[in-house]
Amino acid sequence: MNTTALIYSFKSNKSAQVAKKINEEWGKNIDLVDADTLTDEQFMAYQNYILGVPTWFDGELPNYWDEFIPAMEELNLKGKKFAIYGNGDQKNYPENFVDGIGIMAELIEVLGGEIIGFTETEGYNFEKSFAVRGQKLCGLALDFENQNKQNIPRIVSWIKQLKAETTQE
Ligand SMILES: Cc1cc2nc3c(=O)[nH]c(=O)nc-3n(C[C@H](O)[C@H](O)[C@H](O)COP(=O)(O)O)c2cc1C
Repeated sequence: MNTTALIYSFKSNKSAQVAKKINEEWGKNIDLVDADTLTDEQFMAYQNYILGVPTWFDGELPNYWDEFIPAMEELNLKGKKFAIYGNGDQKNYPENFVDGIGIMAELIEVLGGEIIGFTETEGYNFEKSFAVRGQKLCGLALDFENQNKQNIPRIVSWIKQLKAETTQE
C-alpha cells in the first residue's frame, strides 16, 4: 500500500487539529509533512496526498501555500491523487467560503493531478465559493467558527470515502 502524504501547516492550530483526526482515522501508512517547510522533493515523493488548505485574506491561500506555489508550478503531477480539506467561515465570508480549496484544486489539475474527495454542498449556508463544482465542493469544507460539532463526523465520513477512492490494496 502506498504511503499517503498529509500536508498542512504544523503552526496552524485548527488545520493541525483536523490533521490529528485524519491521521487517527487513516490508521497507518501516512506521513505528516509540514507545509511551512515543504520542498518540491518532499512534495514529489508520494502518489496520494491529503492537503490542508484553509482560506485567508478574503478568498486567498494562506502565506505558506502561496510561497510554495512558484515551485509547485514547475512540477508534473500526472498520476497523482489529491484530496483537499479546508477550514473556512461561511458566516463571515459567505462570498469566499473555502475558496482556497478551489484555488488549490484548479492549480493541481492544471499540473496534471487528479482531485478526489468531492463532497455535498448540503448542510452549509453560503453565497459563493470557488470550491463549488456543479452541485459539489471539490474537497472537505470545515467551519470551526459556525459548525464546530460537525467537524468530527464530516472528517470520519470523508476519510472512509477517500479510502474507497484510493482503493487501498
Ligand atoms: C483575516 C481573515 C480572513 C479570512 N478569510 C476567509 C475567507 O475568505 N473565506 C473563508 O471561508 N474563511 C475565511 N477566514 C476564516 C478562516 O479560514 C477560519 O478561521 C479557519 O478556521 C482558519 O483555519 P486555520 O487556522 O487552519 O488557518 C478568514 C479569517 C481571517 C481571520
